[in-house]
Parts: sequence; structure tokens; C-alpha cells
Amino acid sequence: MADKVDHVEEALDRNSKAKLWEKLELGLVPDEEIKVIMRSVVEKRHQWINKLSCQQQQAQILKLVHSLRQTDVVTESTYNPDHYEIAFSFMKIMHGKALKMSWSYFEDESVTLDDAEIAMLDLYCERAQISDGHKVLDLGCGYGAVALHIARKYPHCHVTAITDIASQKQFIEEQCREHNLANVEIILADITTYEMNKEFDRVMVISVLEHLKNYELFLRKTSKWMKADGFLFIEHWCHRSLAYEFKASSNSHIIHIKPLVDDDRLEDWIFPDMTVVIPSFHLLLYFQDDVSIINHWIIDGNHFSRSHEEWLKNIDANIDAAKAAIVSSNNSEEEAMKWFNHWRTSLFHGIEQGKYNNGEAWMVAHLLFKKK
Ligand SMILES: C[S@@+](CC[C@H](N)C(=O)[O-])C[C@H]1O[C@@H](n2cnc3c(N)ncnc32)[C@H](O)[C@@H]1O
Repeated sequence: MADKVDHVEEALDRNSKAKLWEKLELGLVPDEEIKVIMRSVVEKRHQWINKLSCQQQQAQILKLVHSLRQTDVVTESTYNPDHYEIAFSFMKIMHGKALKMSWSYFEDESVTLDDAEIAMLDLYCERAQISDGHKVLDLGCGYGAVALHIARKYPHCHVTAITDIASQKQFIEEQCREHNLANVEIILADITTYEMNKEFDRVMVISVLEHLKNYELFLRKTSKWMKADGFLFIEHWCHRSLAYEFKASSNSHIIHIKPLVDDDRLEDWIFPDMTVVIPSFHLLLYFQDDVSIINHWIIDGNHFSRSHEEWLKNIDANIDAAKAAIVSSNNSEEEAMKWFNHWRTSLFHGIEQGKYNNGEAWMVAHLLFKKK
């Protein structure tokens, strides 16, 4: 292993970073090597974080809190809806039956992706204390994994789900017709600008925070949709101690290569068009202007890693259909294949990042807030 890492280091030292990236996009790097490269990327990031003392980390977090409060709820650089206009046939191959676009919960080694999706959906319901008859709002609902699960599990609940992607709305509506679910309403809108005079018992925000910047404004807007005794449940990816900004590549919203304040030598890999915030597990606690925390949990990064591993396995087990799905939704076969290889690479990255330090470095946070 050490030899391989050295080999990667050498390769990078020889100014071949751009070439390596090109080879990755062309699918010319063997999987074993991709794993080692991604592990090295994650290791470097870990070292960069650990170089900072507690005092420095805390100062950086407070600086970030201050700067996030000065910006818009969402900026062009944090969210591009085009990233979610991915061929549905591809998403169906990659995800489990629930089409959950966020991570799943693997109780043990033997659990399948389909069961792990349900386990996580059940965990959301339990932690958000949903009961039959509640009015539930699901913000950034993707293909409706959360909304449809709640609608089926609690027939007397009424679920309003919001997405900004027309094909996602269409899919959820088809599912409701097919399964006779009359208790779901889908709204096509941008959650950061949409206005409605309605209040809900529960508001669910699952894996959407990554696209937002000004959490103060977002939580204020969300709190207006909560009943006086309503709860807000949030899930987000995070680091155990540090909150930081990242530049992500232009081809995928998933791969995060380089912290903004880093001198790591992989910087040539960056296509600098998107900046995302990786919160620390406690970052949202600095934004309790309109909501207050009542419970807070951590799910170790191994579940995130395993979710990516299962998505990769699904793609590889159906590789021809997966490639065809991407090619059919792209004008150029060459570009489609680059995208496809980039996507696979980013899944390797997710696997390595999630399991780094046995899932104790990066992880998933669940938070339950009440209205102030
Ligand atoms: C990672 S997916 C999670 C989807 C879903 N919550 C799930 O767990 O399967 C993020 C979703 O948030 C949606 N989203 C992000 N920003 C949004 C915005 N400003 N308005 C509406 N939807 C948004 C995207 O369209 C995408 O469906």
C-alpha cells in the first residue's frame, strides 16, 4: 500500500496531475489505482485539517459562520440544478428501490441497499417523531424517497414535497397514481425563494444543506412553515470538528477535491466552478436565531461509504445499460463517457472519505429543532 501511495506521490511530483486527471476521465486508470489515489486525496485533506490546532479550527469556524451570514441563501457557485438533470434510467440503475439520493443505514454487513434505504427512512420518522395525521413538508425531495415513505407508512399524514427538477416531480406523481397515494402534493419550486402561507407539523430537509450558504436566512424561512409546536429535522454530511469551504469539480456535484485554504498539491485537478460548504457536526448550532436544537445525533461515515460502494456495485453490475443511459442523454458520446468515468471516480472518493479513520472523521449529522 505504502509503495502505491509513493508511486502516486511521484506521479504527482512529476507534474503529471493534469494527465492523471485526463486518464481518469478516459477510464484508463485501473480501479485499484483509483482507490489509492482517492485515499491519498482524503489523507491529504485529513492532514490539512489536523495541522490546525483546536484554537485555529474554532477561529476558522467562527470566520465561516460570519461570512455565511453575510451572503445569499444560495449562490450560483453552491448550486446548479443542472447537476440533478441526470438520466433517470441511470439513477434507477445506481440507487436502491426507494431511489434515495442520500445515504442509507447499514445495520450490519449483510444488509442490502434496498433494506438500508428503508432503515434510514424509518430512522428519520422515528427521530423526527412523525405520527399519523401530521402535515409534513419535505424540502428538496429528489425522487420522493422520504415523501413517499412517509405517505405509505402514515396514511393519515399529508405530505407536501418540493423539488426544483421537473422530471423528479413527474416521477413522484406517477408513483402516487400507481400506488393510489392521495396524500402527497408535489410543488415545483426553488425552496429558497418559494412563498406559501402554510404551516406544518414536521419539516424534513435531507441532504440539501450542502447546496445552501446562508443558513440563518434558510432556517428563518423554514421556521415560518413550522407550526408553533412543529419540529424541523435536518440531515447533512459533515466533518467531526472543522467546517470549511471546498471547490468541487465542474463535472460532478459530488467530488470535492480541494479545501479553499490549502496548499495541497492536487490543485491542478480542480475545475473551479463550484464552492460547497462542508459543515462541522455542530455548525448549525451557531444559527439558532429562529429555531432551537432539541436533539442531535451522529451516524458514522461508514454508512456513507457503504452507500457509495453499493451505488458503484449497481453501476458495475449493469455497466452497459448504465453507459447507454448516460450516452442517450448526452449529445456527445465522448463527453458522456467522460462524465461516466468522472462519476465512478467520485463514488470511489465517497467510499474512501466515508470510511476514513473508521468513519470517525467525516460523518452524517441528524438534528431536530423546534420553533422559537
Ligand atoms: C442530494 S438530493 C437529496 C434528495 C432527497 N432529499 C433524498 O434524500 O433522496 C438534493 C435535492 O435537493 C434539491 N434542491 C437543492 N437545492 C434546491 C433548491 N434551491 N430548491 C429546490 N430543490 C433543491 C435537488 O433538486 C435534489 O433533488
